[in-house]
Amino acid sequence: MSSTSTGSFVSEIKRSHYAGALRANNAGQNVVVMGWIDGRRDHGGLIFVDIRDREGTVQVVLDPSRPAMAAAKDLRAEFVVAIRGLVRTRPSGMANKKLATGDVEIEAAELEILSEAKTPPFQVNDETVGENLRLKYRYLDIRSQRLSGFLRKRHEIVRSVRNFLSEEGFTEVETPILYKSTPEGARDYLVPSRVNQGSFYALPQSPQTLKQLLMIGGMDRYFQIARCFRDEDLRADRQAEFSQIDIEMSFVDQDDIIAVNERMAQLLWKKFRGVDLGPIPKMKFIDAMNRFGCDKPDMRFGLELQDLTDKSRGTGFKVFDDVLAKNGVVKGLGIEQAGEMSRAQIDKLVDIAKKAGAKGLVWIKGDVNGALTSAVSKALPEDKVKELHKTLCPSGKGLSLLVADGFDTACAALSALRLHFGRELKLIDESQDKFLWIVDFPLFEYDAEGGRWAARHHPFTSPQNQHMEILKSGDEKRYGEILAKAYDLVCNGHELGGGSVRIHRSDLQASMFKALGLSLEEAKEKFGFFMEALSYGTPPHAGIAWGVDRLTMILCNTDAIRDVIAFPKTAKATDLMAEAPNAVSRDQLIELGIRLAPGVGETAPN
Ligand code: AMO
Repeated sequence: MSSTSTGSFVSEIKRSHYAGALRANNAGQNVVVMGWIDGRRDHGGLIFVDIRDREGTVQVVLDPSRPAMAAAKDLRAEFVVAIRGLVRTRPSGMANKKLATGDVEIEAAELEILSEAKTPPFQVNDETVGENLRLKYRYLDIRSQRLSGFLRKRHEIVRSVRNFLSEEGFTEVETPILYKSTPEGARDYLVPSRVNQGSFYALPQSPQTLKQLLMIGGMDRYFQIARCFRDEDLRADRQAEFSQIDIEMSFVDQDDIIAVNERMAQLLWKKFRGVDLGPIPKMKFIDAMNRFGCDKPDMRFGLELQDLTDKSRGTGFKVFDDVLAKNGVVKGLGIEQAGEMSRAQIDKLVDIAKKAGAKGLVWIKGDVNGALTSAVSKALPEDKVKELHKTLCPSGKGLSLLVADGFDTACAALSALRLHFGRELKLIDESQDKFLWIVDFPLFEYDAEGGRWAARHHPFTSPQNQHMEILKSGDEKRYGEILAKAYDLVCNGHELGGGSVRIHRSDLQASMFKALGLSLEEAKEKFGFFMEALSYGTPPHAGIAWGVDRLTMILCNTDAIRDVIAFPKTAKATDLMAEAPNAVSRDQLIELGIRLAPGVGETAPN
């Protein structure tokens, strides 16, 4: 075997061990390892390199004076090499406790460079490197223990889910990607058809209608690790394409879905966290909103909101009076630990409230002696300021924050502030995961801009039995009262999954479409095939979908969804490595019957 690339390794000589898996019990063995050069140190004639593979790194000692190892002098970071050598225990006192392989090293007998590498733009495993650079060279980042570890854990999670659901009698069925709009509240990604010019497929926002059709088809228990596509604003826990554990069951109701999914959560947490999750508590949507200001509360800390609407009536303070006259609310948050905040710090809180949609933020601050300062001390009677502050901060010290606005806006602003303080004051107990089922969601939400009702979950969700008649009656004024048979699984403030019992009767489905403002023609055009299917004998059915990426993110203790996706997109939905999306050639567009509007980019050369 030679020191240059003659191809003798790999074709004739096989790898015997993973470099990173070598331990003291391998000492004395002749091994062949293959991997990347992670680091190199020259010491008095000997060259020390670390060889990295997916299991970790091991130190190799090379003697370049030996002819079989002449290439040792050429080794640089990220060269790919094969090395044959003897595993030996490191001399006493030389063990590296930081390395799993630190008790041993390989004394190289032969070396072959399998491929050379340009100087990499960053060092693998250097976590201080900016994310954009790491995304551009994602394959280099995947060489890091962190990212490759996340991807392997993701695989283990999905494997456990597949096994669990298969054992519970579910059948995995693949559904199409080139399909028709499946509304989940986002914009569709469209794909133009060449064969049927002027027509477009929509990539599924979820396999919702398809899994319901499988129930109509009698599959009874379906699951799929399903790829979904949504053109929506991306955030730390949202991607344009993501995966769901998509589940549907026939002849079941809400409790049955909750039971199976609770068993799955318990299994996953036992396996990946080593904890017994026990039963997952339930909370009504309205209680979650009132207590935490959002429908996915992080239950790892308290700091609950309080309602001050009644206490805020008749104060003569115009901000309160105007909001209350319009049926708005006054809600507040008391932070006992924050009485010492400066004006500049409070201004930042005002910004957080405004970013969440509030018009402003009323604050009252009590110093250590209980003396109050407030920007509204002139507008509100002194007694009132005291009373409101005492309600939120019983000690009389601390910081009271109040928002007067519509219910949803007041909740959103105070929820953002609650989370801000949870993080800033380190109130979140990171040592545990807190699960919650949110139930009794409203069926509709009012879209003030469009002046119409929209489905809060999706249009296939069933109303609760006691509210069926309101939907059938078409009495729009009462739509806000209707509760849905819908449920979300929340973990640590993330919506991990969501689902519902479905409408299984075509007349009720028609009422639902009507309530959503779809004319009969529009409903037929969009969902005619589905409505027809419902009329051929549909079992009562229900389901749920978990976000695989969010689940993995939580189990990997990272707060960026991009970390658990091999090739993720940026907040602008671009792939920095492949540079997608990109311009296409004029010929391709002509084939598709598409012409770009003036000023909308250019075509690529043919
Ligand atoms: P929903 O829209 O609530 O329900 O989605 C279910 C779960 O999918 C995950 N998720 C996302 N993850 C990453 N990026 C995104 N952009 C994204 N959007 C959603 C979340 C969410 O809880 N068809 C219904 C389910 C059903 O009714 O059975 C649905 O898709 O974890």
